[in-house]
Amino acid sequence: MNKIISTGHSNIAIVKYWGKHGKQLPMNPSLSMTLQNAKTETIIEWKTNNETKSTLGKFTFENKENKPFQERIAKYIDSIQAYIPALKGLELKISSSNSFPHSTGIASSASAYSALAQGLVHIEKSITGTISGNYKNEKVKTSFLARLGSGSAARSIYKGFSVWGKSDALNESSDTYAIPINNQVNPIFKKLHDAILIVSTDEKKVGSSLGHSLMNNNIYAKQRFSQARKNTVRLINILIQGNMPAFCDLVEEEALALHAMMMTSTPPYLLLAANTIKIINHIQEFRKSTGIPICFTLDAGANVHLLYHENNAAEVKDLIESQLKYFCQNDKWISDKIFF
Ligand code: PMV
Repeated sequence: MNKIISTGHSNIAIVKYWGKHGKQLPMNPSLSMTLQNAKTETIIEWKTNNETKSTLGKFTFENKENKPFQERIAKYIDSIQAYIPALKGLELKISSSNSFPHSTGIASSASAYSALAQGLVHIEKSITGTISGNYKNEKVKTSFLARLGSGSAARSIYKGFSVWGKSDALNESSDTYAIPINNQVNPIFKKLHDAILIVSTDEKKVGSSLGHSLMNNNIYAKQRFSQARKNTVRLINILIQGNMPAFCDLVEEEALALHAMMMTSTPPYLLLAANTIKIINHIQEFRKSTGIPICFTLDAGANVHLLYHENNAAEVKDLIESQLKYFCQNDKWISDKIFF
């Protein structure tokens, strides 16, 4: 058997993707930063199967068989064979594991599909010596394929900051793949840290596929998509200027707008926990009383991502250890930072 090992990093969105159409196409552009420590490592082994299509043999996650994941990955591989003809006639054996601990409530689909898409593109290259299709470069094809597995994975192909979805601020942006924007970003933002405060490790009440689909009938959807489009342009300017206080305002507006969409869906639902709100209040209070520009963002869950500049690491650690960790499940928090 041949073998390839690939690594995909997780990302945290600042302008959020929430709502999609067609084949995993976003209703608005999103902008995220890729994380250094939260990542997935995927090993793909392959041999010929004498069939006309590719088959998924064994699949393991964290060294254990996992039927729901296996079915999802098998379907994914089936769906992308049109884009990687070299996969036809191969049997794949895949094993995957995350760097972050089990059940922390950290979304892993971005890192998982980023790792998987990279591995599959590598297989194509090693078999045919090239990448098929009309893509600007290998990263674009990888991002395109990762998107078909999980929308947010499209952005995890790049280090630093990236944008997925057509934006007025970026000519080369696209709904079908993400692009990096690091050459426009002020150096102060290259030193961002993310403390992930684990409020709850429970399975989400409403998963992201259902959440996206509930946007189809959300009466605020149109305004939300327009807000996200404007915030993408606004955020790119803030990143260019290096304006940390303006960054904090936008980050929190986007986090709460995402959850506002959940609260106004039909049926409405709430993923915030009481401790999420307590942490948010402490973060805002700390910013107000010290003038130190730290802020929170949220994913589709109760955990809080506390974003801050490296220069404030000591003060933030003290804030977490003295106040915030008591609102976390078993005092659990994870220290991460932007991946460059
Ligand atoms: O990639 P999905 O389908 O799991 O959706 C992710 C949605 C959010 O994480 C809430 C926001 C984002 O842009 O990553």
